[in-house]
Amino acid sequence: MRTPLVMGNWKLNGTKESVTTLIKGIEAAADAATNVEVAVCPPAIFIEQVANLVANNSIEFGAQDVSTNIEGAYTGETSPVMVKEFAAKYSLVGHSERRQYHNETDAVVAAKFVAIQKHGLIPVLCIGETLEERETNVTKTVVETQLKAVIDVAGIDAFENCVIAYEPVWAIGTGKVATSEQAQEVHAHIRSWLAEQSKVVADKVQILYGGSVKAASAKELFSQADIDGGLVGGAALVIEEFVGIINGAK
Ligand code: PGA
Repeated sequence: MRTPLVMGNWKLNGTKESVTTLIKGIEAAADAATNVEVAVCPPAIFIEQVANLVANNSIEFGAQDVSTNIEGAYTGETSPVMVKEFAAKYSLVGHSERRQYHNETDAVVAAKFVAIQKHGLIPVLCIGETLEERETNVTKTVVETQLKAVIDVAGIDAFENCVIAYEPVWAIGTGKVATSEQAQEVHAHIRSWLAEQSKVVADKVQILYGGSVKAASAKELFSQADIDGGLVGGAALVIEEFVGIINGAK
């Protein structure tokens, strides 16, 4: 049995005040959902604040992105070692917004995946097709290619200790959630494709769905056999929504 994971991706949002309000607003639901892992990925500058706020509750946290470099002349970057110093558990890697706005190639994503694991964090590897790719029926090839790029560098066994987030690009921030059938079809494909390489990995790896998850759609999505929770953007900033999503994973 895989434990469901509900992870909030706050993206470029928050103030010192709203970060505190949000964590305080979700902590009771996170603590009560004993069979659900709950995590948030704040902007890097709020990591220390979040670390302090979650010290006495069950909420975990991670970075939204890290550098492949550990230290040195890399202006503006955050290293996985710095993030780990605050007892973070995760780092997202390969989010479509990083791929799109920061030109992160599969090769960069693979290098970051390795750096994240090497320094004791769990990578949450984001993959997913664009609308054009879905309409031309290449969704499965796209996710296989994105996974293979990382497996070729990190090895399949590295996937025993990672999370995969399937996020169709056309569903991110658009309000167009994939239907539970559409999502389950891709999740099942990802798992069976992984099983060809390692049954252990395929059985163990949590595969989250992401893309306009809301409290109203969470339960139905998370009840699918191969959907092990969600990576949540917009709705993770709204206390009642995120609480509803956590409860949907129970
Ligand atoms: P969304 O974002 O829930 O706002 O669609 C999800 C994500 O980008 O991780």
